[in-house]
Amino acid sequence: RRPLIIDCDPGADDAVLILMALASPQDFDVLGITTVSGNAPIHWINKNALKILELSKRTDVKVFGGCGRPILRKPVYAAHVHGESGIDGASLPEPESSIQPQHAVDFIIETLLHSAQKVTLSVSGPMTNIALALIKEPDIAKNIEEIIFMGGSTNGGNITAAAEFNFYVDPHAAYIVVSSGIPMRMIGLNVTHQLVTSEERLRKLNSMGNEVGRQVAGMLTHGVDSDITRLGLLGRSVHDACIAAYMLRPDLFTFKKMNVIVDHSNEASIGASIVNEYPAHIQDHWIWVADTIRADQAFDLIIDLMRTYRD
Ligand code: BDR
Ligand code: CA
Repeated sequence: RRPLIIDCDPGADDAVLILMALASPQDFDVLGITTVSGNAPIHWINKNALKILELSKRTDVKVFGGCGRPILRKPVYAAHVHGESGIDGASLPEPESSIQPQHAVDFIIETLLHSAQKVTLSVSGPMTNIALALIKEPDIAKNIEEIIFMGGSTNGGNITAAAEFNFYVDPHAAYIVVSSGIPMRMIGLNVTHQLVTSEERLRKLNSMGNEVGRQVAGMLTHGVDSDITRLGLLGRSVHDACIAAYMLRPDLFTFKKMNVIVDHSNEASIGASIVNEYPAHIQDHWIWVADTIRADQAFDLIIDLMRTYRD
């Protein structure tokens, strides 16, 4: 079993990632969920993480509240896709559980320092918590198995022409993490835009006969129009679910070695991922960058895992 910390900003697609990981206890030992300001303000994000755990009946998993703003820039939210709450379209009761007293950054540091096994970090929001953890305690790097993140793009942005949302929101954090030399996999828009909803897929989720399926269908239905009209996609992208899909079915993806630099200094292209695969550049520094996905099978995996939940 892979020891895993899920650092996220739920967000409907983050919620699907969490639900996929929790439905695979034979594959993952989820050590904790850490939250970060991103799709919505942090108080909504914290509440959403707790709601998802209650929906999945997994309140044994602890939620650690994280950074409430990016390192330098003003917060930016994604109400145009996820709604004001971050998971509009779902109708989940107010959570009864609460977040832990320990801050997410300290939880990440302590867990990594004391874990007997190396830990994988799934990062599906702005990278603020991870960057601050690396600054506060650089020694944690040696106990990270791999950082698998949704962020960046090899072919243009979604929030600006140049930048993907997670990188744009905290470009300084993304720069710190991506240049850290830690083993890393980037799953960017060039791949996540292929994992999209369709009417048929939403119908399958909605009619699978459990509350998880209905709620996920509700969340993902919200934002369909935005992804179709703003980005020309065929449905709503379930970006962050690619992280879980990759960990469970690596055969569905291919990756390339690329040098990735996050622009954190030019206003017009701030948050852009500058990617290069020429030997001269990858000899300096490279990470694995997702290149292809077998999206039909990846969406089937989402559906199969959501079906395992019982009311
Ligand atoms: C990323 O931004 C967020 O809105 C999604 O949750 C995903 O992590 C896509 O750019
Ligand atoms: Ca996210």
